[in-house]
Amino acid sequence: MSAFNEERVLSVHHWTDRLFTFTTTRDASLRFSNGHFTMIGLKVNDKPLLRAYSIASANYEEHLEFLSIKVDDGPLTSRLQHIQVGDSIIVGRKPTGTLLCDYLLPGKHLYLLGTGTGLAPFLSIIRDPETYERFEKVILVHGVRQVDELAYHDMVTEHLPQHEFLGEMVKNQLLYYPTVTRESYRNMGRITELMENGKMFADLGLPPLNPADDRVMLCGSPAMLADLKHMLETRGFKEGNTSKPGDFVIERAFAEK
Ligand code: A2P
Repeated sequence: MSAFNEERVLSVHHWTDRLFTFTTTRDASLRFSNGHFTMIGLKVNDKPLLRAYSIASANYEEHLEFLSIKVDDGPLTSRLQHIQVGDSIIVGRKPTGTLLCDYLLPGKHLYLLGTGTGLAPFLSIIRDPETYERFEKVILVHGVRQVDELAYHDMVTEHLPQHEFLGEMVKNQLLYYPTVTRESYRNMGRITELMENGKMFADLGLPPLNPADDRVMLCGSPAMLADLKHMLETRGFKEGNTSKPGDFVIERAFAEK
């Protein structure tokens, strides 16, 4: 059997000239855990051109959803940004990754810290009822440069609280903290700064970060991951992985160079 399925694009939504979302059909046999990524791409000159993308949809949904940047000279995204409904997309049959609740020790608060397209795996995790069974509070933090890059803002603040099955859990347990660095907005600054100076915790009404109660997932650029990993380790947090659960887990956000 091939390592890939060929799927059809069902919808495309452009957030900005740098960011877009699309949904595709899903092969009935594709299995994944919320937070996983898989290889996806296009056939170029009959050869597959693939990159790792987090799956933004939840694993009980019939379609697949992906969040992508657009890079004009990126081998894949220069092409992918032009996809239309009905086009075909290649999707890897073996999703994997470390951003799974299973790789975290039990805790009280789950912090999902994402910058840019690093939001994507968390969209799957906040749509998983099990997340709310495991943690009292789930805090989704999204750091971006500009206000219009706060993709999914309305989904998180308006649609999800009205969701037939998740609505009550979302209303009672999900906190959303969007922050912007290069424009004025109600929350401003890098996630690192807002955690260091305590502003984020004060705004959310939560205690400062501590490894007894808090668990953290990180998804962003290599620099963001390095800074936050350092901050967490300084505070006594231990990194988890697929073979040993810990206090935090890490994955690189997709960014085509
Ligand atoms: P900044 O505007 O200060 O660079 P990008 O689009 O480059 O991935 O950035 C997304 C967001 O992540 C931006 O708000 C950016 O802030 C922020 N960011 C970049 N580097 C870091 C870092 N080392 N730690 C925390 N946030 C970062």
